[in-house]
Amino acid sequence: MSAFQAPTGTRDVLAPESAQFATLVARFSRAARLAGYGLVVSPMFEDAGVFRRGVGEASEVVTKEMYVFEDRSGRSLALRPEGTASVVRAFVQHRPPVPWKAWYVTPAFRYERPQAGRYRQHHQLGVEAIGTEDPDLDVEVVALLAGFYEAVGLTRVELTVNSMGDSTCMPGYRASLAAYLEAHEIELCDEHRATWSRNPLRVLDCKRPACVAVRAGAPRLSDALCGPCTEHFARFVAGLDALGIAWRRDDALVRGLDYYTRTTFEFSSLALDAAQNAVGGGGRYDGLVERLGGPAVPGVGFGSGIERVLLACAAERVAGLEGPGLDVFVVDVTGGDAARDLTSELRRAGVAADRAFDGRSLKSQLKQADRSGARLACIVGPDEEASGVVTVRWMREDAGGGDSHGRQERVERAQVAAAIAGWTR
Ligand code: HAM
Repeated sequence: MSAFQAPTGTRDVLAPESAQFATLVARFSRAARLAGYGLVVSPMFEDAGVFRRGVGEASEVVTKEMYVFEDRSGRSLALRPEGTASVVRAFVQHRPPVPWKAWYVTPAFRYERPQAGRYRQHHQLGVEAIGTEDPDLDVEVVALLAGFYEAVGLTRVELTVNSMGDSTCMPGYRASLAAYLEAHEIELCDEHRATWSRNPLRVLDCKRPACVAVRAGAPRLSDALCGPCTEHFARFVAGLDALGIAWRRDDALVRGLDYYTRTTFEFSSLALDAAQNAVGGGGRYDGLVERLGGPAVPGVGFGSGIERVLLACAAERVAGLEGPGLDVFVVDVTGGDAARDLTSELRRAGVAADRAFDGRSLKSQLKQADRSGARLACIVGPDEEASGVVTVRWMREDAGGGDSHGRQERVERAQVAAAIAGWTR
């Protein structure tokens, strides 16, 4: 075993898996651009207060999972456990015109108990749209995420939605839930028996059987919504219906971060284990900008875990995420000039090309060509060099150029890059 390993709960992503990762980012970037979102890149660490105040002192992400450290000047910093609070911090700092629609791809760090689909560093694709409380924007962000899953090829994802109310109706609901939980404190799970009063809503998304049983008789969030929140939710789900996006309401969908108001939503993969089946989730956070020192401006967004989406793709056997591989492998047994020059020419012609180094034998280079997965091999030996040609060998059935595995053809050296560019296009 090597002296150092990737830290517990983290993983190295190498090719070809990394190509799937890159494909997801590319498809997401396209979906975001089509909907008018611009890329935002913000620091991976922030003043720890951004998350304490933004995500909430009572959320597990902050109390148990955040990587907090002091820098050399004694500032308290935190690795971002999620994207929203730092994107909102950037909004408050720069005050771009609203609606401000931003997308991101970022690592996120949470000190969780590592298991399949749950890591200490995971990666999120997300959007944040700040500046309007129009429920059609909620529809837009959900549609963007649903469209992304569809573009990736996932079919077994289920959307659940809910409304968490606003500052008018939520305090009353929280109080009635607290009164109920106080009366049932003894029946709660060990953790929530001690902590429910800090944030009673956390009991609603506790998965332990004790809390699930208590919840069955608890006051319902949907009964407590005020008129404007009810209307907001109605317009939201009507929009989903209009766009043909299937949804199910889950009254207990309060999500683990404390900034949510009104709309919350989550996409779960039916192909994954229930404990880690959330492939993406988000919602509205109408008080967050203000909490981080900005004006009273509402916002809505989501984050989707790249690792989870890839797990769901594997479980659904989605093909084609690895993208195009190598087109050509250049085999040169004449000293290396041909490999150097032809590889460069091919790349300039838009052909993905690689080569061997170190003057290896023909056999070794052909083996490398085979292992590379290239569709074609370009072979230059003394005979080819003397005749000013290149031998092109078809390495796979689907190699292109209208022919099959094993075919060989001698092509003029001067024409070969253009010919191959045509065949592999
Ligand atoms: P979240 O639900 O905590 O929301 O995370 C978003 C997604 O990240 C989850 O649905 C899941 O796919 C993935 N994820 C979370 N934790 C892990 C982990 N430990 N390992 C692997 N994947 C994970 C947020 O982070 C919010 N910022 C979303 C949002 C944006 N809400 C409004 N705007």
